[in-house]
Amino acid sequence: MPKFLNFASITKKVTLALIGIFLMAFLVVHLGINLCMLREDGGAWFRAAAHFMGTNYLVKTFEIVLFAAILLHIVLAMIIQFHNWRARPVGYKSRSKSKTAPASKLMIWSGILVLLFMGVHFMNFYFAKIGVVEGRYIVEVEAINEAYGEKQQTLSKAYAAAKDDSARTKVEEEITAFQEALQVFQQNEKFSTALQSGAKEVEDLSKADVEAVCVALEVDYEPDFYIMARQLFKNIWAVIAYVFFLIALGFHLTHAFQSAFQTLGWAHSKYTPAIKLIGTLYAIGISVGFAIIPLFFYFCK
Ligand code: HEM
Repeated sequence: MPKFLNFASITKKVTLALIGIFLMAFLVVHLGINLCMLREDGGAWFRAAAHFMGTNYLVKTFEIVLFAAILLHIVLAMIIQFHNWRARPVGYKSRSKSKTAPASKLMIWSGILVLLFMGVHFMNFYFAKIGVVEGRYIVEVEAINEAYGEKQQTLSKAYAAAKDDSARTKVEEEITAFQEALQVFQQNEKFSTALQSGAKEVEDLSKADVEAVCVALEVDYEPDFYIMARQLFKNIWAVIAYVFFLIALGFHLTHAFQSAFQTLGWAHSKYTPAIKLIGTLYAIGISVGFAIIPLFFYFCK
């Protein structure tokens, strides 16, 4: 085992519990943002929140902490589980007599399901942000106008400053490439419709659209997670898979909540029933809250 993970069992459990509480808090924020998708505003609120989360430097730093926390949570949970299995090799015989709650016994398995879910989930959304998979994209009209103006100015300045024929030819080539990009831009139905209707954003762009236009004009674009969710959850199998995984997450969280409090020594016979109740309500709230989103897109959109 790596040296830095070879600390006392209680330290591992406390670290696991603290990380667990941090991850549970993340889920509340994530759910809050996702529930904005349910508003009848074509995804405006959700996109504004996603834009903030995708561009704010504090949030970007938080993302690194989050991924590190998820990784450490998985590693520690596995180490503790293997220790438990090694320490109780005959435990299976008395399994039926054990008074441990089912959610507790199933922690490792519900955890593995959550991990599997994360893999699928990242393929569906996050990997489009880092360019690993193709998604749908959105770009602000104002950003296009600004980039267009800036590019025009840069090119005319470069042309005026060109000292000889070869420098002029180079700028002319750039101008031709720019004009070609503009032609693609003008012929693209999504861009022209958005510009004519005075929309603030051009939505639901393919990778080819953004590459032809945004890359040539040097405009920033973002994944259109609202459209991606709407498209994904038109598929009944995706809806079934998400609901199944969210039930597993519910089981995982039911036990995780009370277990974290117990490990941190905050459990008292007087408060244990209240902690259990809050934990159960939290777990139901999170899994039902998230499950509403695929069901909403499938049945209502
Ligand atoms: C229907 C349910 C869900 C939907 C529609 C959804 C949607 C999204 C979207 C659009 C992103 C990309 C956001 C971005 O990178 O800016 C994302 C990221 C992420 N989701 Fe979910 N999510 C759902 C459920 C969950 C659940 C249940 C978990 C945890 C078990 C989870 C964990 C994450 C993590 C860790 C990230 C990456 C971190 C981040 O970018 O904020 N999601 N999700």
